[in-house]
Amino acid sequence: MADNRVVVYKGPGEVAVEPIDYPKLEVPEDVARAMGMSKEAPHAVILKIVSTNICGSDQHMVRGRTTAPVGQTLGHEITGEVVEKGNDVQFVDIGDICSVPFNIACGRCRNCNEGKTGICLNVNPARAGSAYGYVDMGGWIGGQAEYVMVPFADFNLLKFPDRDQALEKILDLTMLSDIFPTGYHGAYSAGVTTGSTVYVAGAGPVGLAAAYSAHLLGAAVVIVGDLNEERLAQARSFGCETVNVGEDTPLEEQIADIVGEPEVDCAVDAVGFEASGHGRGAQEAPATVLNAIQTVTRAGGRLGIPGLYVTGDPGASDPDAQEGTLKIRFGLGWAKSHVFFTGQCPVKRYNRGLMMSILHDKAHIADAVNATVISLDDAPQGYKDFDKGAAKKFVLNPHGMIPNA
Ligand SMILES: NC(=O)c1ccc[n+]([C@@H]2O[C@H](COP(=O)([O-])OP(=O)(O)OC[C@H]3O[C@@H](n4cnc5c(N)ncnc54)[C@H](O)[C@@H]3O)[C@@H](O)[C@H]2O)c1
Ligand SMILES: [Zn+2]
Ligand SMILES: [Zn+2]
Repeated sequence: MADNRVVVYKGPGEVAVEPIDYPKLEVPEDVARAMGMSKEAPHAVILKIVSTNICGSDQHMVRGRTTAPVGQTLGHEITGEVVEKGNDVQFVDIGDICSVPFNIACGRCRNCNEGKTGICLNVNPARAGSAYGYVDMGGWIGGQAEYVMVPFADFNLLKFPDRDQALEKILDLTMLSDIFPTGYHGAYSAGVTTGSTVYVAGAGPVGLAAAYSAHLLGAAVVIVGDLNEERLAQARSFGCETVNVGEDTPLEEQIADIVGEPEVDCAVDAVGFEASGHGRGAQEAPATVLNAIQTVTRAGGRLGIPGLYVTGDPGASDPDAQEGTLKIRFGLGWAKSHVFFTGQCPVKRYNRGLMMSILHDKAHIADAVNATVISLDDAPQGYKDFDKGAAKKFVLNPHGMIPNA
């Protein structure tokens, strides 16, 4: 029954929208077998997808910088309407519009019980933690699609209180599946509070969401660094200071020009392993941001590191980096007693509070990241434009349900 369509990775630089079976209330075969779980999933729902976003995390796969196989389905930023539910689903109903945390979590294991839903122990035989449509994440089907299955629905879904209001604010609410909580987590775990000075590396959607969150948390000054001028202009549009790390002036001097000293209180890495080196003509250098944030953060400061680092990068230029071993000046961070926060953002920790900020008009994240609606069929073009560095967050609209799009 090929009455669903999904975005699929076709090889470096290429994605396509392809037919796929309508989802069943079943967990992937491998997960069921390895975890000793039943394949039938009465705890699951099928969602008709209202909006689903393209992410920088998808780009790592599409650029051929992970071990994702050709045929990998894509999409982990999902918002949808419940159209079918299993017998064990008690607290969401047909017709509810819900946000789906990109982390798949069972709600029953030790880590889920501790609120660490980014490293659930029961949903991925390969390692702790899982996501829809992602390499090494358990084989769950991606949600850049028309329909998707969401397991452990009572635990995972965040239901919006009012359907009409949800559709009206959908461009803000669609960011709750990943980048708004992820950016917030970056800023929060970096210790941002009233009066903080903050450096955010990266002006992609996650960096912009971190910078926006730093403002929400009361930062005195938020400095965003990137080499993409269009994205830096986007950061200035909501009150950030910016630095271009592609220029030869060292980052710490550019920061000193803004805050009067070469260090900030808190820093966020919203770049990850595909980082460019600093300065004119610099090549890719994966440890750049990790070293830069240690350099510019005060002793005793914290480093929020939502930027993604991998254990296998076939596209890396040296053998160490190919297995995720990077040249980090850890001694500097040690000397400064830095705290490092890494890993998947546990979306459930933040999504409800951020939803309330959106529903009560305190947060306008869609404008900050320049949410831009395109059709599911235009996903391949969206991937290309995003890869070129467009200052946009692409939101796919598979059923034309997004108002005024
Ligand atoms: N931890 C999580 O849960 C989580 C969730 C979502 C995304 N991510 C990761 O966050 C990162 C950012 O995501 P995105 O969607 O914004 O990606 P993106 O690729 O759109 O943005 C990255 C930006 O970093 C810039 N950049 C490159 N080198 C730099 C440097 N040395 N200093 C400053 N900026 C530099 C690029 O020009 C680009 O604008 C990715 O690695 C993504 O995989 C992690
Ligand atoms: Zn994402
Ligand atoms: Zn779990």
